Amino acid sequence: MFKGKSLAVLASVLVTVTCVVIYFEWRAVQEIPKSFVKLELKNLLQKGRHALLHRMIASGFHRAAAPAAAEPAAPAAAVEASRVALRGAGPAPAGEVSGLTASLAPHPSLSTGLPSFPTPREVRHASCLHDYEMSKWPRASLVIPYLNETWEHMSATVSSLVAHSPLELVDQILFIDDGNAPEWQHHEELLALHPKIRVHRNELRQGLIRAKVIGAAMIQSPVLIFMEPHCIVSRQWLEPLLEQLALARDHKTLVMPTLDIIPENNFNQYLPANHHIGGFDWTLSFGWKELIEKRNLSYVYPDPYPTPALSGGIFGIWKDNWEHMGTYDTNMTEWGGEHIEMSLRTWRCGGRILVVPCSRMGHVFRAKNPYVVHVPEVMKNTKRAALVWLDEHLEDYYKKVPYAKRIEAGDVSERIYLKKQLQCESMDWYIDNVYPELRAELSTKY
Ligand SMILES: *[C@@H]1O[C@H](CO)[C@@H](O)[C@H](O)[C@H]1NC(C)=O
Ligand SMILES: *[C@@H]1O[C@H](CO)[C@@H](O)[C@H](O)[C@H]1NC(C)=O
Ligand SMILES: *[C@@H]1O[C@H](CO)[C@@H](O)[C@H](O)[C@H]1NC(C)=O
Repeated sequence: MFKGKSLAVLASVLVTVTCVVIYFEWRAVQEIPKSFVKLELKNLLQKGRHALLHRMIASGFHRAAAPAAAEPAAPAAAVEASRVALRGAGPAPAGEVSGLTASLAPHPSLSTGLPSFPTPREVRHASCLHDYEMSKWPRASLVIPYLNETWEHMSATVSSLVAHSPLELVDQILFIDDGNAPEWQHHEELLALHPKIRVHRNELRQGLIRAKVIGAAMIQSPVLIFMEPHCIVSRQWLEPLLEQLALARDHKTLVMPTLDIIPENNFNQYLPANHHIGGFDWTLSFGWKELIEKRNLSYVYPDPYPTPALSGGIFGIWKDNWEHMGTYDTNMTEWGGEHIEMSLRTWRCGGRILVVPCSRMGHVFRAKNPYVVHVPEVMKNTKRAALVWLDEHLEDYYKKVPYAKRIEAGDVSERIYLKKQLQCESMDWYIDNVYPELRAELSTKY
């Protein structure tokens, strides 16, 4: 009798415990796919930073962007383009934005034997079109990691670089072959394009982040320019960047060009971008945010302007500053998260990030990465950035990305030590002084 009673109690306790466990498991499972799917969708739809370039053609300032002499974008097309851009982060069908198609004049460099590339029409402001006094400027080298890139894009990138850069100031154009299969290596073809081209091969894929650190360590020039191998640089793209770097006596300024948009399905199209600031939300996903003209009502185009965040792969930096500031977190794998980390670190540890609208290049916007991006890797990187940099706002990140709590992000003590050594300001300082809009994002529902 007594035995039967305690058995019954035991059984009901067991059943209750099992139910509770099942309930929490169920909740956890509900939670994982939701945040996972959300992030995965975000990644697929927006393709991280690249797709967001698309937003840059949103509303407004095409007239300001085009010099008087250039063929102005038809207003109807601009309105249509902005409508398309605002509708979603996915690529717009080519036909819908055809009013902004670039001219296709073959470049004179064809005669020198370089592969041809579509030359975009001039979209810079008239005040950018002048000779620059370069005698006191630092020399630069370019670092361009590549993985599974088409020869069409790589060769066009090089051709435009050779045609439109002041090569007397460029020491090397260093390609980092990040563990490409033989059919994607193109070493000889690259080297044959120009004597300043070098190729370094990582036998094992290191990921974009470490590939850049490896490449930068091989450079002797005082200035590093990180580039991507699917760009068409416009005339005088490098001069305004070097000018701003030369003006920064403390070497702590990072510079970005304005990235215009080349849709992947039409390499001959060129959509001039507007001048947005780069930012992010509490999931630490990068996005192009407000127009600078709206953010700063006394802004005068095309002055260089501050941006709270870097979009990613394309920027110039003094090499001594790159090293002093701790390059990248080399325990971040593959791709993603490093641009947010770099943005927070730069602003909070004495530096600043400027967009230089006189420097422009077209960037091939791709709906999809040509290589596999693993969402867990991106989340791991992002969590590393969050752990080191969000301070008392770490919970705000977890609130938006609950799944991140359970991601194993590894040891970040080295990066926290770096932050102390550099005597960096707090996250609240960053919000108050650099990116006040981030406070409003706290109440945004995702
Ligand atoms: C706004 O823009 C003007 C002109 O470009 C600049 O001088 C000024 O410093 C900017 N203001 C802020 C708060 O950044
Ligand atoms: C690059 O392309 C090769 C095929 O040539 C493929 O096997 C490989 O998975 C791709 N690499 C990545 C990282 O996606
Ligand atoms: C990278 O991870 C290893 C192993 O956890 C750790 O010893 C090292 O300090 C980490 N490096 C950085 C830069 O965080």
